[in-house]
Amino acid sequence: MEKTFYIETFGCQMNAHDSEKVVGTLLHEGFAQVEAPDQANYIFFNTCSIRDKAEQKVFNRLQHFKNSGKGKILAVIGCVAQQEGEKIFDRAPHVSLVAGSASYTKLPEMLVQLEAGNRRVTGLSLETDQTFDTPFTSRDNPYRGWITIIEGCDKSCAYCVVPFTRGPERSRTSASVIEEASRLAGLGYSEIQLLGQNVNSYRDPSPAGWDFATLLDQVGRVAGIRRVRFTTSHPRDFVKPIVDAIEANPNLCNHVHLPVQSGSSRVLEAMQRLYTREEYMDRIEWMRGARRPIAITSDIIVGFPGETEKDLEATLDLLDEVKYDSIFSFKYSRRPNTAALALGDQISEEEKTRRIVIVQERQRAIQMRQNAELLGEVEELLVEGRYESTGQWVGRTTRNRNLTFSSSASDLLGTYVNVRVTRSGPNALMGELVN
Ligand code: 5AD
Ligand code: SF4
Repeated sequence: MEKTFYIETFGCQMNAHDSEKVVGTLLHEGFAQVEAPDQANYIFFNTCSIRDKAEQKVFNRLQHFKNSGKGKILAVIGCVAQQEGEKIFDRAPHVSLVAGSASYTKLPEMLVQLEAGNRRVTGLSLETDQTFDTPFTSRDNPYRGWITIIEGCDKSCAYCVVPFTRGPERSRTSASVIEEASRLAGLGYSEIQLLGQNVNSYRDPSPAGWDFATLLDQVGRVAGIRRVRFTTSHPRDFVKPIVDAIEANPNLCNHVHLPVQSGSSRVLEAMQRLYTREEYMDRIEWMRGARRPIAITSDIIVGFPGETEKDLEATLDLLDEVKYDSIFSFKYSRRPNTAALALGDQISEEEKTRRIVIVQERQRAIQMRQNAELLGEVEELLVEGRYESTGQWVGRTTRNRNLTFSSSASDLLGTYVNVRVTRSGPNALMGELVN
């Protein structure tokens, strides 16, 4: 059988980067990638189960391939695969491979089993000290290179499925991270984004023993690297030396994504987040005290079991106090295995919708005001895209803001330009090139 594959990816940046590694591994194993499922013999779904909706999307996609997938090998990998395990074979008997991210190092062996005709191949053990590092990563973006520094999560937030889908924390050696950053710089990448479910708890397993702040600073010192970003941080493990490193090293971008989830200490405790609102605000103060203006973004969950009107008010008040550059907001979704399943006082879907709308409106007003303050400022952008229809370019500032601008230049992609902000809205900034 000809070895062609098609892959669809759902979920977060960790998943998107895992797919780059899976694709690289498949290419190395002699597979050819195709753009449409009907051209492929193997179809991979790299799945997300963070909320019920994401999980349902996967099963809908699988249903779609019940007939059109005949004669093809279907593989479900990633978080839904890990969470549902062999139950996926019951729900979708046309699936042949079910494997979670902690088993990707065994991907070549699993492919051999599939090729040998085995139609029930699994990789579901979470007992691993391995990280999925591969020199064969096939990267989607030619300017910004993702590097996984830590896999898994040892926290136990009451709502979160990730510890069950990605296993225990495993950090890579600092030497292998620096080596990968240097290799990327040599290939022309100028921006590195360090990835992990909780990058702040990074701990170098080699004798060097670097913590996250040291690793971050050192990646920023790799020749050829101009920008370093990282995601995601956990407030409990976000320490002052990280802010000090950003302040001292101009190659570290002026942006921190520090998910708060709720502005109410009572809800934070129920969520088992391991910090209070006050402790969270201490971290915000460290950043606000830095000499460079650091953009701060966050995640908010509304409708966690037991969340009262007063708790919601506390979250709105926190938005006003922090003035985030942007937030992602979510309605609480019940997830298998999680501690919050046992909590009473679930909030109705209608009520969650009402609350998320209020949160989003409040944040929209904040962003409208904040963005208006940027008018006239000159920002350095890494140009990452071009809108063919309007001929405009789009790039990102160190503070992680997209800025659109016009230029008749033939190719600006991957270059750094200075742009003055001339128009602003709650979600968009536009500007003009400064020579
Ligand atoms: N329901 C709603 N949102 C969730 N998140 C994680 N788990 C859930 C859940 N069960 C959100 C958190 C996290 C982001 C990635 O997704 O805000 O920071
Ligand atoms: Fe989705 Fe979380 Fe898995 Fe990322 S780690 S794919 S967000 S469930």
